[in-house]
Amino acid sequence: MAQTTPIAVLISGRGSNFVALAEAIGRGEIPARIVLVVSNEPDAAGLAKARRMGLATAAVPHRDFAGRREHETAVLAALDEAGAEWVCLAGYMRLLSERFVHRYERRMLNIHPSLLPAFPGLDVQRRTLEHGVKVSGCTVHLVDAGLDSGPIVVQRSVPVLDSDDADALAARILEQEHRAYPEALRRLLTQDWRLDGRRVVFT
Ligand code: GRF
Repeated sequence: MAQTTPIAVLISGRGSNFVALAEAIGRGEIPARIVLVVSNEPDAAGLAKARRMGLATAAVPHRDFAGRREHETAVLAALDEAGAEWVCLAGYMRLLSERFVHRYERRMLNIHPSLLPAFPGLDVQRRTLEHGVKVSGCTVHLVDAGLDSGPIVVQRSVPVLDSDDADALAARILEQEHRAYPEALRRLLTQDWRLDGRRVVFT
């Protein structure tokens, strides 16, 4: 069997992007294997989905720890134990410290439901609609110490319709997220690339 990269997926909620990654891996589209699914929310629906798929899971509730540092230490220990070389954040609702980011520098991805650098942070679709943009989409980016600010790997766009509410727009974007995330991971793991300033350049 060809070499596969051990990855961990960090989630906090329903985990549909995690499932999209797992299914793409299952179809042989990405030379990776999911060695651990971690959630800071023990009741996350995505964690139950991971268990049903027979994957290793870890619930590391942030509320059980004195602070961010202690919580991250526990998450990093779980990643080390599982042998994760790459990390995919998929709806993981915790800000990461510089120490964490540095450990997985250029080996950690996040997905965000807007065309960054527009609308980073929370409550994205309400702000997108309020601003009145006509095109939105999703962004997969390498994670740096800022908020949704790292180098962009893949973006996919969708139209914003006059009839949209936040849920309708989010659903249209989510469909594209499920394509963009596997594509970004596949390209980073299978192609030569480098960073040229903020630009991810595939060579
Ligand atoms: C997605 O919209 C993602 O872009 C954002 O959080 C949401 C997670 O959804 N970061 P899911 O848990 O992957 O279904």
